[in-house]
Parts: sequence; structure tokens; C-alpha cells
Amino acid sequence: MINVILCGGNGTRLWPLSRTLYPKQFNKLIGDRSLFQMTLERNRTLCSNTLIVSNEEQYFLALDHVEELEYQDAKFLLEPIGRNTAPAIALACKMVDEEELVLVTPSDHIVKNHQEYSKCVKDAMSIAETGAIVTFGIHPEYPETGYGYIEANGYNVISFKEKPDQTTAEHYIDQGNFYWNSGMFLFKAGVFLNELKKHAAEIFESSRQAFESAKTYEYVTRIQKEAMIQIPSDSIDYAVMEKSTCVKMVPAQIGWSDLGSFEALYHELPKDESGNTLGASYNQFNSNNNLIISNDRYVAAVDVQDLIIVDTPDALLISKKGSSQDVKLVVEQLKQNN
Ligand code: GDD
Ligand code: MG
Repeated sequence: MINVILCGGNGTRLWPLSRTLYPKQFNKLIGDRSLFQMTLERNRTLCSNTLIVSNEEQYFLALDHVEELEYQDAKFLLEPIGRNTAPAIALACKMVDEEELVLVTPSDHIVKNHQEYSKCVKDAMSIAETGAIVTFGIHPEYPETGYGYIEANGYNVISFKEKPDQTTAEHYIDQGNFYWNSGMFLFKAGVFLNELKKHAAEIFESSRQAFESAKTYEYVTRIQKEAMIQIPSDSIDYAVMEKSTCVKMVPAQIGWSDLGSFEALYHELPKDESGNTLGASYNQFNSNNNLIISNDRYVAAVDVQDLIIVDTPDALLISKKGSSQDVKLVVEQLKQNN
């Protein structure tokens, strides 16, 4: 089985920690390993090969992180521009035999329960051998609208809905048989490509052509820009998962978080008795439940509660907990001004 690590996104919800050229997956947010390195380590014992699908611009950064682990065998597939996850996965599947099992994992999540994770992956392998696309379902905690939802009956998937609106998400939570899609997938390469061909023929065909003009040198395969531009941009979730009828789900109680917001990060970080996160150098007077991240500067918090304070060399974020989803608006505005 090959582990395809999707590493080309540039999450904006953790700005200013996550930047276009230094996205979230390369941050050492928890402990001394980046989220990307944790992904590599978690899967290397389960898979015989690793293929990192990344943006050309992030190649050296990704390579540094791989080399820090003294990991010799990883291959790279480099995209000149991002076309979202459906093309990234399609190109990766073209690299392997169609009977080969592919474990697709994002590069920017955490999984705390490794033993249970291994067990779920092994279950998923045997289901994928029967020709299914296997998803990993997370027990939902609240009506998050940034996730995909899987309606399941045992291992069988009744429906898949990507990023529903608030009312729909609330309705799903009330039903009791809906799970969050973890963003990991397991299938035979040929099964995925067939489903893509059936449900998103244009992505399938343009990815096939782009792969044919790709250039490989040692362990790096580069897609040509002229060919990549021709591929429509879409995620696996909209392009395939919502439409395919061969989807199965393994329920996964694996201590998963996609750290998709500062609130989620706060939840995962160690805290002192006042509920303030540990790690940064700061002093607090009558301040509780704050997320404080600072590398160099000393932070003093006086009589403030439930704040997000993130200091980096060239940008400082101060936000109320609960409002941090709007951080992406800051990034959009910065992009417009540049
Ligand atoms: N190579 C490559 N190229 N990787 C990409 C690209 C791309 O163009 N775009 C995104 N990625 C990577 C990201 O770095 C991340 O690791 C993964 O693919 C998923 O992309 P996201 O952009 O983070 O997706 P999402 O968070 O909106 O939604 C997905 O994950 C949710 C769980 O966190 C979906 O699968 C949802 O259904 C799911 O609930
Ligand atoms: Mg994500």
C-alpha cells in the first residue's frame, strides 16, 4: 500500500502561523514535529511507499522536513499550481499500479490514538480490496460547516454531503447516524480512477494528459504547467464522494483533529491551571482561558479572558475565541491589497 500525502494546501484559518509559503502542515504546533512529519511517521509503518503530492513552491520545505526524519524512500509529485484534491489524487493514482491500495491522507491533521488508527486502516484495507472507496468517519461533536458529512448504516454509506449549510449540519447532528469525513481515503488506484472517470470525466481526462507529459527525475515527478492549467479545480469530496455509489465507511475513534481553527488548536494544547496555553513566554494577571502563542516577544495579558493572541515576527493577531473563523477574511483582504 502506498501513502499519498496531500501537501499542497495553504490553509488560511491559522494566519499568521500559516502562510502561503509556510502553510500549516509545516508548523511545529504541537511538540517538536511538524504536522506533516507526524503524518509521515504515522503511516510509514502501515505503508510500503510514500508519495508526497505538493506544490512546486513548497518542495524544498517539504524535503527539509522529510530529511529531518532521515526518511530516504519518499517520492514527490510536484504540481506547478494547485487544482485542489481531486486532480492531486488522480495524478498520484496514475503513478501506481491500478491494483495497488492507496491510503490518501491530508498533511495537516493530528491523530492521537495510533493503535486505534492502525486498526481502522487495516479494516479499511480489507474493505478496499473488494472494490470500495473507504472513508474514515469521525463521531461529530457539533454542527461544523467546514467538513463533509457521511450518512452511514454500519460500514455502508447512504449519502455523502460536503460542507453543508448550518441548518443542514444541525439536522445531521440530530439524526445520530452522520459522521464527519476525516479527509482520509483508502482504495485501489484503479477503483478511484474509474469513479473519477464516471463522475468527473473532464478532470479524469485532463489529469491523464497532464500525467503523460510529466517529467520524472530520480524520485521527483513534475507536472508541466501548460497541462496542469487545463485541469478543472475541484475537491475529491464534490467531484467523487458525493456522487459515487461504492463508498464505505470505517468509524474511527482515533483522537482526530484537523486543527482547522485556533479554537481547535486551543483544545489540543497543554494549559496551565487558569486555562491559558503553555509554551509562550508570557505573564498573566487575572486572565483565563487564553490561547497565547509567541516565539520571541514577551506577552503580558491583564484581565482578559477567552482571547486568541498569536505573535509572529511580522504580524500579530488578536481575536475573541469563537470568532477566529473570520481570520480568513483578513487573509483575503491582505491578498487584495498586495
Ligand atoms: N497536492 C495538493 N494540491 N494538496 C492539496 C491541494 C492541492 O491543490 N488542495 C488541498 N490540498 C491538501 C491540503 O494541504 C490538505 O492536507 C488536504 O489536501 C485537504 O484539503 P483542505 O483544503 O484542507 O480540505 P478541507 O479541510 O476544506 O476539507 C476536507 O477535509 C475535511 C476534514 O478536515 C474534506 O475532505 C472534508 O470533507 C473533510 O471533512
Ligand atoms: Mg483541511
